[in-house]
Amino acid sequence: MAVDLLLGLQWGDEGKGKIVDVLTSKYDIIARFQGGPNAGHTLEFDGQKHVLHTIPSGIFHDETINLVGNGVVIDPVIFKKELDNLSKNNVDYKSKLLISRKAHLILPTHRLLDAASEASKGKAKIGSTLKGIGPTYMDKTGRNGIRVGDLELENWKEKYRTLADKHEKMIKFYDVDIQYDLAELEKEFFNAVKTLKSLTFIDSEAYLHEAQKEGKTILAEGAQGSLLDIDFGTYPFVTSSTTTAAGACTGLGVAPNKIGEAYGIFKAYTTRVGSGPFPTELFDEDGETMGRVGNEFGATTGRARRCGWLDLVALKYAVQVNGITQLIMMKGDVLSGFKTLKVCTAYNYKGKEIQHLPYNIEAENVTPVYTEIKGWAADLTGMTKVDELPKEFNDYVEFLEKELEIPIKVVSVGPDRTQTIQR
Ligand code: GDP
Ligand code: IMO
Ligand code: MG
Repeated sequence: MAVDLLLGLQWGDEGKGKIVDVLTSKYDIIARFQGGPNAGHTLEFDGQKHVLHTIPSGIFHDETINLVGNGVVIDPVIFKKELDNLSKNNVDYKSKLLISRKAHLILPTHRLLDAASEASKGKAKIGSTLKGIGPTYMDKTGRNGIRVGDLELENWKEKYRTLADKHEKMIKFYDVDIQYDLAELEKEFFNAVKTLKSLTFIDSEAYLHEAQKEGKTILAEGAQGSLLDIDFGTYPFVTSSTTTAAGACTGLGVAPNKIGEAYGIFKAYTTRVGSGPFPTELFDEDGETMGRVGNEFGATTGRARRCGWLDLVALKYAVQVNGITQLIMMKGDVLSGFKTLKVCTAYNYKGKEIQHLPYNIEAENVTPVYTEIKGWAADLTGMTKVDELPKEFNDYVEFLEKELEIPIKVVSVGPDRTQTIQR
């Protein structure tokens, strides 16, 4: 069986957690392929909200295996907190959570290095979640990292010490004021490693190959979004992994010719958290309304998300880079009450109108060109069928489908599992 992908097409927080949870009943295995605890994936059902950071969003279903792939970076401390939360909710995770031996570990000193790097950048800081993501992927590509499989070796603590000592020297090099008590952080870390070691570590690429041969259905769950991709995102204001479709190949060992559906998920507007260019960002009452109604606060850091109109130039780019086969539109309910909606269909770039995403999208280089569309007043959150949706909402969706040349097969009208409409 081919492996399906679910990918965020904007700057993250599109609603991946909710949709993976909704789709899970169709799959035998849900597999995360990149990122780490910088992600915050929210699920809501039975009146309860759950936020996952590293654990795949299929974990609340009894029959599904959840795999943390080789491309993911794991902070044992945060992972343990996630497991504790699952236990509190009576989720028996032990039998259905698998971890790739090739996944890299985030050490306490990776987090400190992240903080030191950001502090040294001053105003130019990336706005990182400070979870140690950048430094951990640097050690991975620099061939210095410690992997989950190392925890099964006798000498792993020596490897740990060598790397942590080197990190301490690097922290000093940044020459910024970072206060920390490493002994305390290490106590917490080694305790969490014990918990991690009680889980099942596997050679995940072999496991997935076998599962594919047996005809098992597999969904690869992305974290972040295409515009935060290390290559195709708004560099340097990006994360340190491949968030686009190719990341599922390297982050799970899935061959490119074994990819099936590529679900692309986007919000009916745009948000971004952290620094970096955002051409359609709003600084007025409309942006404020989106943030308030959409409850746009980061699921990992609690920071307010910046809001703006939908950017089709950027969305088309993401569709192309990922080979998206069907689209899922989230948070349409948040736009209820806007008399007129705007959609960016081109950029004014250095005096010329262009339709593609150029190298520089900072405000001084790019001005969005908008198409205006009539809004709708009705509250969508209680609607469950396509024929209940207002005409103007359908017009909005059809306009986007025509522009993107891909069907929008699902629209989400609220955070709960049940507030999901198939088209
Ligand atoms: P993820 O990182 O892509 O999983 O998304 P987040 O969980 O960070 O952010 C999405 C937020 O929007 C969460 O608070 C969800 O509960 C919420 N959400 C998801 N879909 C909808 C929707 O259709 N309407 C509304 N109003 N909220 C939604
Ligand atoms: P999910 O999976 C939104 C952003 C950070 C920062 C930049 C780099 O929930 O969609 P990092 O911690 O990776 O060094 O931060 O990327 N960022 C996210 N923004 N959603 C996320 O994940 C994000 N993960 C990282 O805000 O701008
Ligand atoms: Mg999120």
